[in-house]
Amino acid sequence: MFPGVSGMTIDGAGMLKKMESLMKRASLSLSRSRTSAIAGVMFTAAYFLVAVSTTSAAEPATGAAATDVTAKVTDHSRVMGAARADCKKCHVSEVAAGMKTVHFQSAEQRLYKFDGNTKKYADALGIKQAELLSNSACADCHGTVALEAGQKKVVSGVSCESCHGAAGGDDGWLNTHQSYHASMKIPREQETAEHKAERHARCDTAGMVRSTNLYGLAKSCYGCHLIGNEKLVAAGHKAASVFDFVSWSTGEVRHNFFMDKEVNAAAPSLWTETEKGTVANRRRMKFVVGMFAQVETTLRLLAPATEGAVIKQFRNPLRDAAELLQEVDTPETVAVGELVEDFVPSRTGKKPENGDEYLAAADEIAEHAKAFVNANDGSKFADLDEIIEETPAYYSQQYKQKYGEEN
Ligand code: HEC
Ligand code: HEC
Ligand code: HEC
Ligand code: HEC
Repeated sequence: MFPGVSGMTIDGAGMLKKMESLMKRASLSLSRSRTSAIAGVMFTAAYFLVAVSTTSAAEPATGAAATDVTAKVTDHSRVMGAARADCKKCHVSEVAAGMKTVHFQSAEQRLYKFDGNTKKYADALGIKQAELLSNSACADCHGTVALEAGQKKVVSGVSCESCHGAAGGDDGWLNTHQSYHASMKIPREQETAEHKAERHARCDTAGMVRSTNLYGLAKSCYGCHLIGNEKLVAAGHKAASVFDFVSWSTGEVRHNFFMDKEVNAAAPSLWTETEKGTVANRRRMKFVVGMFAQVETTLRLLAPATEGAVIKQFRNPLRDAAELLQEVDTPETVAVGELVEDFVPSRTGKKPENGDEYLAAADEIAEHAKAFVNANDGSKFADLDEIIEETPAYYSQQYKQKYGEEN
């Protein structure tokens, strides 16, 4: 059923089982076309695990750098680093949860030791050991890069700012985001509605990615979890994680402790309180928004791609997400579903001749995604629950071994 996946890791096998059960469940109640679309989206994951083995002799130096692929930190001068920003002072439980994740340990595991696959990938890209921890293609995905005396330096593994945006700078969000009054200390309940709106606007302008910004959060994940650097992928690095936004953000990564430091809530507790949001609606929105982010990011990576072996890996994520989006009945999802159809590569890795239109389409998708988020709260998409329920919270092997399946 899933060709070419025999070399999968235990994680991958688990994921396959999940996908199969998901498809079975889905077929009980959904139309044929929807079932296959959903199965396809999940299938994407398995598809990605097929190693890229064909490397052409002439390897153009293409990759993510050429276009704005990511929502992850791009302005290193604004990165504070968790130590300097002292997020822990106010977010003790969030930081404690973060330190248990493979995110936090990634720099140590992948960048500090110059051996094994790290060396293999670095060699393929001509990166020297000393560069790994400074100005390397690896550093922004496996760690947090800040400027120290004008030089780029990895200051930690994947950290708070990797997903929530760089916090520093004179007009940065660090101080703004937690201040309920211009001059005096007052509790959250006493903040005026006007000040709150102004504070949120200032945070958003400063690049803070807050819980309300589901699309920004999803894009930050995909910015690292879809990999378009063709040399890197040709060297054996995964082109993509077995990623889905709902389950991957609800397992080891979850840290919803704001209202109660002892309770890791199923949805952001501050958001639940202030926006009156529900867990079910948030999961539905995440499911669809994740699809938007998947197609947008994939198109941005496809734009400069030239290697068939890499290009063909983006076929299923595009095609399947396009089908699924067309099943969700809103103007934005249907429009994006149709739009994407014109960009799906062939099985052999041929890109449709669309020239610069890939990036224009990606921009258009981003606009549709934002409109979708503004126009919906998830309450209309109860149909998706059955599928989502079958996608349990995801924990890495490493995490499970140390902590089990809870956080
Ligand atoms: C001095 C205390 C303090 C520090 C330091 C601090 N925070 Fe916060 N943080 C808060 C408070 C208070 C809130 C709740 C704001 C509100 O009510 O909108 C908050 C909320 C947040 C939120 C949720 C915002 C939303 O609207 O969804 C995020 C994300 C966050 N902080 C990240 C960070 C990160 C990352 C750091 C370190 C770079 C940090 N904070 C440092 C006090 C702090
Ligand atoms: C700055 C880049 C970056 C961002 C942003 C990012 N990740 Fe990751 N993530 C990684 C890397 C790198 C790994 C692999 C860590 C390792 O093994 O060294 C990883 C691993 C994971 C894992 C564990 C996978 C496994 O089986 O080992 C989960 C779960 C995960 N990420 C979820 C998310 C989610 C959800 C988001 C968005 C909310 C996200 N990540 C955003 C870089 C990132
Ligand atoms: C666009 C983001 C991105 C870039 C660039 C990137 N990685 Fe990764 N890397 C990841 C993610 C995400 C994972 C985890 C994939 C998974 O398991 O789902 C990973 C996994 C790994 C692993 C463990 C799996 C394996 O293949 O052995 C190593 C080692 C690694 N990366 C090294 C590197 C090195 C060295 C570089 C630079 C030459 C690099 N990576 C560049 C995102 C990236
Ligand atoms: C891998 C990406 C990622 C990283 C790293 C990350 N966050 Fe988050 N954070 C999220 C996502 C996604 C949400 C929304 C969670 C949800 O939808 O359930 C969130 C929510 C939050 C909230 C709101 C919680 C609530 O109960 O309302 C706070 C506060 C927060 N993060 C702070 C931090 C701090 C501090 C760090 C560093 C220790 C951090 N985050 C690291 C992705 C991340």
